[in-house]
Amino acid sequence: MQGWQLSCELLEEGVAVESALATAPVDRRTVVSLFSRLRTAGGQSNPLPLYAKLRAMGEIVQAPWGGHLATSYTVCHQVLRSRSWRVPDTDWRTRQDDAGRWSAAASRQMGDTLPMLNSPYHTQVRRSLGNMFDRKSLGIMKSSVERTTERLFDRLAEELRDGPADFVALVTDELPVITIGEWLGIPPADYPLLRSLTHDQVFTQELFPSPSQLALSDAATHRLRQYFTGLVQERRRSPGDDPVSSWLRTWDALESDRHAADEAVYALALFMVLAALETTSHLLSGMVRLLLEHPQQLEWLRVHPEYIPGAIDEVLRYDAPIHMISRVAPEDTELAGVTVRRHEMVQLMVGAAHHDPDQYAEPGLFDIRRKAPHLSFGGGMHYCLGNALARLEATCLLTSLLKRLPSLRISSAPVWAPRVAFRRLMALQVVHA
Ligand code: HEM
Repeated sequence: MQGWQLSCELLEEGVAVESALATAPVDRRTVVSLFSRLRTAGGQSNPLPLYAKLRAMGEIVQAPWGGHLATSYTVCHQVLRSRSWRVPDTDWRTRQDDAGRWSAAASRQMGDTLPMLNSPYHTQVRRSLGNMFDRKSLGIMKSSVERTTERLFDRLAEELRDGPADFVALVTDELPVITIGEWLGIPPADYPLLRSLTHDQVFTQELFPSPSQLALSDAATHRLRQYFTGLVQERRRSPGDDPVSSWLRTWDALESDRHAADEAVYALALFMVLAALETTSHLLSGMVRLLLEHPQQLEWLRVHPEYIPGAIDEVLRYDAPIHMISRVAPEDTELAGVTVRRHEMVQLMVGAAHHDPDQYAEPGLFDIRRKAPHLSFGGGMHYCLGNALARLEATCLLTSLLKRLPSLRISSAPVWAPRVAFRRLMALQVVHA
């Protein structure tokens, strides 16, 4: 049985994990048990004790399912900034034995998207985008993000008059899809479909998708392919002043083959939606959760709104939307004293690294005045191209929250999705006293 399948089944069985690996070395057993807890809703509600245990095993921990886990800030930062470490691209995926995991349609499709490309093609595609969210474009987007936020808060305030309301469903799942949808010129009627397909597609980017989750991811991939191929064709027929039409113009100049240009633009449009939804939703919902759990800091922010950017960075450090980023060793490499073989995968445990006591004083303390670096948007060649847009949405939301709902409180325990890599708050019930 292949490593991934073995781990996936063991983790599915949960309790069986300990006995199934009773004869294995203690670290193997401990790591599997730890990840089986991490991927439950309970583990996601507070992963910090599990991360502390993981870090205590070393800066580099051998993963029982193959490859390694990097747990310290220094190693995660070093690998992200390196120009030689690679991402698991299509070539790497096709070389893996775990056919179900890496050859699934959803995984193959991910292999064609920007963060899964290596240079030199990665450089060409990244350059073709230019600076999508420069000061000028963001200035134009700002007023519409503010308008949308106000509209969503109107609805939330109305719901709150009758009692508890779900902040996630009413605000933080909505703002990112409306923002990216308007930017790409997608009809609002399609937003619910795109949001739901994105939720399913993301399973393929998880550490241990179950076979049923992979099937959902494959089906979502198929629908997304139809949707974005249709969008590219429509912009071919009637080009406009939107990003998809502009990418088509760029790629027609780069590619003599029109079909290849269409494919490149399709992958870009698809990935922008995948990249912008789950991540930003989590930044927004996680931010509201953390600030409502620390009312004194929220109150302080009301008096010192100039600290809003710093507060957003502390949210990103304390609870990054993506807790794990994958890299592949370009050759046999020494990492924190451990030899990583060529083509072996290293999972950068960014969520754990953000609580590394060697990097942060009192890492478990949420402190909006901290001013510390973080890896939430990655680093180096693949550094997130949408970070400024995500920050803009978070700023608008926090500004409205401070202004409009001064007495907002969490009314019941937040509901977490059972995942490892992509954090997701499924529900955050709030009341306004
Ligand atoms: C809080 C929200 C977000 C977070 C936490 C986030 C996080 C990340 C991370 C960690 C990476 C690097 C992945 C790697 O190194 O393998 C990345 C790449 C990327 N992100 Fe974001 N992202 C966010 C929002 C957005 C938005 C709103 C967009 C676009 C509208 C976007 C577009 C991209 C793109 C295009 C890349 C690929 C860059 C490359 O590979 O060269 N992201 N993001």
